[in-house]
Amino acid sequence: MDLTKLTPEEFDRFRTFIYGETGIRLADGKITLLSNRIRRRLRQLDIGSFEDYYNLLTQKKLPRELEHFIDAVTTNETHFFRTGGHFEWFTDSFLPTIGAQAAEKRRPKSLRIWSAACSSGEELYTLAICLDEVRHQFAGWDISLLGSDISETMISAARKGIFPNRSLDQTTDERRSRYFAELPDQAGWSIRPRLISMCEFQRHNLLTPMPGDKFDCIFIRNVFIYFDRKSKQTAVQNLIHSLAPGGSLVVGPADGIYDLLGELNKKTTFLYVKPH
Ligand SMILES: C[S@@+](CC[C@H](N)C(=O)[O-])C[C@H]1O[C@@H](n2cnc3c(N)ncnc32)[C@H](O)[C@@H]1O
Repeated sequence: MDLTKLTPEEFDRFRTFIYGETGIRLADGKITLLSNRIRRRLRQLDIGSFEDYYNLLTQKKLPRELEHFIDAVTTNETHFFRTGGHFEWFTDSFLPTIGAQAAEKRRPKSLRIWSAACSSGEELYTLAICLDEVRHQFAGWDISLLGSDISETMISAARKGIFPNRSLDQTTDERRSRYFAELPDQAGWSIRPRLISMCEFQRHNLLTPMPGDKFDCIFIRNVFIYFDRKSKQTAVQNLIHSLAPGGSLVVGPADGIYDLLGELNKKTTFLYVKPH
């Protein structure tokens, strides 16, 4: 099997396909990276050419193969308490405000949180930990925590709740012992079943609207780095649509969507609120 590198034409066809499926626009310089990643998959499947693989993906549209392909081209890096200030805001400002509004009967005792593009779940579980730490203030509330990602592989990893050591680098010892159990031979950590039962995960593509009730808080972080402007616009409109009036959008530092958030009120560099 002689699989050197994608030709510029093949690269263009694959990246157009990736763009249509995910909104991710691969730059010209990514030809070697994409060639290497696809080549690995061709060897596994014993397929002899990039073209045969392209035809398999685009004509047969096998959902599992599409999954493998999307996994090969997306970046899933994440960890618990990533950009810690966002979670300090969640615990110290967002939750007390929501609690006070309910005490004054200005809102029901319900709360819906969405980690959009959650990868293997660390972001949503971090929010679950923050909520658990003040759970007595939210006794009797109807709370829903949803994590979604385009990658089914990431979603099933999130549901299992097993994490490598590096995912917990920013997690204090106290939280490690309260919320995790260490795997034998220091091979990683499993999160407590109680936290797994607080969280729901589903596959979802940000280029399509999220059906169902609106959210009081959405975390959208470290997702749009490879999106072009048009896909960012589509995804951001879908997110804003899913935000309840008064709801908060938490944005990652490198996502480059600040100029698309004009309908929201800017509170801090990372926090945008939907007007009532
Ligand atoms: C780097 S991770 C970010 C995880 C987490 N939000 C964080 O900040 O740590 C980016 C995730 O975006 C997902 N993703 C990429 N394109 C997507 C799309 N169109 N819809 C939903 N998720 C997408 C990838 O599968 C990946 O898991």
